[in-house]
Amino acid sequence: MQLQKLAAIFLVSLGHAALLGAVGALAPPPGSSNCSTACGGVDIPYPFGIGPAGCALPGFELTCRDTNNGKKPFLGHGHFELAGVSLPDGQVHVWKYNISSYCNDTNNTQTNVDVVRFADPYRISQAGNVFTVVGCKAVAIIGVGDDFARFLSGCAATNCGRHGDRLADGACSGAGCCQTTVTKGYSAYVVEFTDYSTVFNSSKDIYNVSRCSYAALMESSSFDFQTSYATSSEFFDANGGRVPMVVEWAVRNASNCVEAQKNRDSYACVSMNSVCVNSSSGPGYICNCAKGFDGNPYLRNGCQDIDECKEPKKYPCYGNCKNILGYFDCTCPKGTRGNASVEGACQKIILTSGTRIAIGVVAGALVALFGFLGWEEAMANDTLVELLDSDIVDEASMRVIHHAAVLASQCLVVPGTTRPTMMLVATELRQLAQADEVQQRPQPPLVLEDLSFAGMGRTSMSTSYSGSNTSGVYSIQKKAVLSIEFAR
Ligand SMILES: *[C@@H]1O[C@H](CO)[C@@H](O)[C@H](O)[C@H]1NC(C)=O
Ligand SMILES: *[C@@H]1O[C@H](CO)[C@@H](O)[C@H](O)[C@H]1NC(C)=O
Ligand SMILES: *[C@@H]1O[C@H](CO)[C@@H](O)[C@H](O)[C@H]1NC(C)=O
Ligand SMILES: *[C@@H]1O[C@H](CO)[C@@H](O)[C@H](O)[C@H]1NC(C)=O
Ligand SMILES: *[C@@H]1O[C@H](CO)[C@@H](O)[C@H](O)[C@H]1NC(C)=O
Ligand SMILES: *[C@@H]1O[C@H](CO)[C@@H](O)[C@H](O)[C@H]1NC(C)=O
Ligand SMILES: *[C@@H]1O[C@H](CO)[C@@H](O)[C@H](O)[C@H]1NC(C)=O
Ligand SMILES: *[C@@H]1O[C@H](CO)[C@@H](O)[C@H](O)[C@H]1NC(C)=O
Ligand SMILES: *[C@@H]1O[C@H](CO)[C@@H](O)[C@H](O)[C@H]1NC(C)=O
Ligand SMILES: *[C@@H]1O[C@H](CO)[C@@H](O)[C@H](O)[C@H]1NC(C)=O
Ligand SMILES: *[C@@H]1O[C@H](CO)[C@@H](O)[C@H](O)[C@H]1NC(C)=O
Repeated sequence: MQLQKLAAIFLVSLGHAALLGAVGALAPPPGSSNCSTACGGVDIPYPFGIGPAGCALPGFELTCRDTNNGKKPFLGHGHFELAGVSLPDGQVHVWKYNISSYCNDTNNTQTNVDVVRFADPYRISQAGNVFTVVGCKAVAIIGVGDDFARFLSGCAATNCGRHGDRLADGACSGAGCCQTTVTKGYSAYVVEFTDYSTVFNSSKDIYNVSRCSYAALMESSSFDFQTSYATSSEFFDANGGRVPMVVEWAVRNASNCVEAQKNRDSYACVSMNSVCVNSSSGPGYICNCAKGFDGNPYLRNGCQDIDECKEPKKYPCYGNCKNILGYFDCTCPKGTRGNASVEGACQKIILTSGTRIAIGVVAGALVALFGFLGWEEAMANDTLVELLDSDIVDEASMRVIHHAAVLASQCLVVPGTTRPTMMLVATELRQLAQADEVQQRPQPPLVLEDLSFAGMGRTSMSTSYSGSNTSGVYSIQKKAVLSIEFAR
C-alpha cells in the first residue's frame, strides 16, 4: 500500500519532469543567453532570432555575418541584409544589392537580368515598394510571381532633353525617371531592360547625357528623384549599389487568425494582451499588442501597459491623468467639467440657484437616508454607488433630482419595518438614471463635495472613508463619504 503510494508519487513527478523537458525542447525561452537580440546595430526581436534552434520561430531565423561594414544580420542564410524589423506592421526592411543597370558603352551594351526570390514567411510589399527606373531613354520590365513572372509591368524613362534640361529634382514623372507599382502577395520577381528602340522610334543619341540607366524595386518613401540620378551614376552609388526594400512577413502555417486560434499550442500570439491580425500579404497572421499596451506580442508577458500619463505628447491630458491597465482616465479638476483631453476645455461649473438648492435637498436627503439605513446596508449593493456616481445630479435632470429627493424622503418618514427595501430604492434609482433625459445628455458628473450643504442643520458631516475603485469624478466610495448623526 505504502509502496504503491510512493510509486504513484514518483510516477507523477516523473511525468512532470518529462513534460517540462518536452516543453523546454520545443521552445527554449526566446531571449535565453545563447540567442542574440542584436547584430550590427540592428535589434532582433522575437519571433526573429539568431542562435541555436528555438531562438526564432521556424522560418524567422537570421544569421549574423561579417561584411565590409562589420557584422550584419541576414535573412536566413541568404543574401538579403536586414536593416530593421517592425513587429506591429509585420515588415522587415532589407538591403537589395546589385541594382539592375543598362549601360551603353560605345562598343557594346551591357545589361543583366535580376532574379530575386524570398523564402517563405516573406513576401514583397506592395504598399511599401515601387518599381523605379532612372535614365534618359530606358524601358524596364518587372515580372512578379512565385515560380515564374506571372504579372508583368514596367515603365519607360524618356528623353532627358539636351544636357538634361527636361529634368527637375523631385519630379519622377517620365523624363529621366518613371515609377510603377507591383502586384501584392508574391515572393519573387524579375527585372529586365528592353531595347528602347523596340518600344519608341527614336534614333537620337543619348550617350553624352547618360551612359547608364538603372532599375530597382525599392522602398517608395526613400526615393526622391534628383536630376543627377538620370545623368550620372549617383543613384547607383548613393547606397553602394543597393537600395532599401520593404518585405512583409507573417506566421504562415495557419491561413488566418480564426484557423490559428484553433490550435493554441502553435498560436504565436502568446502575450496576454495581444490581438491577432490577418496578414495582408497572403495567408497567415501577425500579432499586435492590444490597444493601450505595447511591447512584443510574441513573448509571454510581452505586451505591457502603456502609462499614457507619462506620454502627454501622445496622449494629451489637461486635467487629472490617471493610468489604468489598458487605458487611462483624463478628468477635469475638481469643480470644473468638460473634455479634459482638449486644452482649456475644463470649465468652471456654474449652477443656477434653483439647481443648487435642488442638489442641496437631494444630497441632504440621500445623506440622511444613508445615515438612517446604515452605511453597511447602503453599500452592500454596488448599484447604488454606481448610480450616484453617474449623471443623476445634472442641471438637465431636474425631474430626476426631484424624484430622487422624494424617494429619499419617503425612506426617512416610514417606519423601519415598512420602508422600501434597499433593493427597491436601487431599482428606482436605476430607472431614473436610465431615463431619456439622462441618457441623451451624458455629462461629466458634478463634484458634490464642493457644494454647500447649508440648510441641512440637522445633520453634521465629516468626510472620511476610502475604498475600492469606481470610475468617475464623484464617487461616494472614493471621497466625500459622509457619516451622519441625527440630532435627537
Ligand atoms: C548555451 O550554449 C552552451 C554551449 O553550447 C550550452 O552549454 C548552454 O547550456 C547553452 N545555454 C542555454 C541557456 O541554452
Ligand atoms: C552582386 O553582383 C556581384 C558581381 O556581379 C556578385 O558577386 C554578388 O554575389 C552579387 N550580390 C548579390 C547579393 O546578388
Ligand atoms: C571600343 O573598342 C575600341 C576598339 O576595340 C577600343 O579602342 C575602345 O577603347 C573601346 N571603347 C570602350 C568605351 O570600351
Ligand atoms: C552629344 O555630343 C555631341 C558632340 O559632342 C553633340 O553634337 C550632340 O549635340 C550632343 N547630344 C546631346 C543630346 O547633347
Ligand atoms: C521612325 O521614324 C523615322 C523618321 O521619323 C521613320 O522614317 C521610320 O519609318 C520610323 N520607324 C518606325 C518603325 O516607325
Ligand atoms: C549606344 O550608343 C551609341 C553611340 O552613342 C548609339 O549609336 C546607340 O544607338 C546606343 N545604343 C542604344 C541601344 O541605345
Ligand atoms: C506552426 O508552427 C509552429 C512553430 O512555429 C509549430 O509548432 C506548429 O506545429 C506549426 N503548426 C502547423 C499547423 O504547421
Ligand atoms: C481573418 O480572416 C478570416 C477569414 O477570412 C475571417 O473570418 C476573420 O474574421 C479575420 N479575422 C480578423 C481578426 O480580421
Ligand atoms: C475629447 O476630445 C478628444 C479630442 O478632440 C476627442 O477625441 C474625444 O472624443 C473627446 N471626448 C469626449 C467625451 O467628447
Ligand atoms: C444588486 O442589485 C442588482 C440590481 O437590482 C441585482 O441584480 C444584484 O443581484 C444585487 N447584488 C447584490 C449583491 O445584492
Ligand atoms: C477594482 O479593480 C480591480 C482591477 O480592475 C478589479 O479586479 C476589482 O474587482 C475592482 N473592485 C471593485 C470593487 O470594483
